[in-house]
Amino acid sequence: MSAIDACAPQSGQTVLVTGATGGVGSQVVQLAVQAGAHVIATAHADHEKEHVTELGAAEVVDYPGDIASAVLEAHPQGVDTVIHLAGDPAPLLAAVRSGGKFISTLIGSPEQLQAESATVVPIYANPTPATLDRLADNQASRHTIVKIQRVYSLDSAPAALADFGSGTLGKLVIATD
Ligand SMILES: NC(=O)c1ccc[n+]([C@@H]2O[C@H](COP(=O)([O-])OP(=O)(O)OC[C@H]3O[C@@H](n4cnc5c(N)ncnc54)[C@H](OP(=O)(O)O)[C@@H]3O)[C@@H](O)[C@H]2O)c1
Repeated sequence: MSAIDACAPQSGQTVLVTGATGGVGSQVVQLAVQAGAHVIATAHADHEKEHVTELGAAEVVDYPGDIASAVLEAHPQGVDTVIHLAGDPAPLLAAVRSGGKFISTLIGSPEQLQAESATVVPIYANPTPATLDRLADNQASRHTIVKIQRVYSLDSAPAALADFGSGTLGKLVIATD
């Protein structure tokens, strides 16, 4: 929620989400799309591309290729906002338009990046009751969805942990009843 609040996406704005296939990214993509933004999402495998497209992304950029170059090819002025949730931040700065925003959950301070014309916003999650209520309300009302990849019984918890370690797209659930 903090990343999307910092973005404050508006209709017609372009937003690049790197790490769009992750837990945070999947929420950010949906909320930016619902605000009317033109969302460009990173994904690699075909099922990941399908996933971000289902969430509403208008464009998909492959990684680990040169994300900034691919984005600038289609948007020569750069995007309004980059929401950086994965990968090396420095090369992505080139994808932000002059005066745009670079929001990151992976940097500690703006000084970590040499940004000439973009505003760099580090994000520190603060799971207050109000924030958690907003997230829960979004799920309950189906405003956003969380993809459940697989449900395991409690006895199968070791298998769930092993699967988690080998990569997931969405959440793994261990049911206790
Ligand atoms: N600062 C804070 O308060 C805060 C709060 C929450 C999260 N975070 C951080 O924010 C990041 C996102 O969290 P999350 O829970 O969404 O993590 P996550 O579920 O692990 O998602 C990261 C996603 O990015 C993909 N990815 C990996 N390398 C990439 C690259 N170079 N370019 C584009 N995508 C790439 C991953 O794919 P693969 O699985 O295929 O590698 C994965 O789908 C994490 O680094 C987390 O530590 C920070």
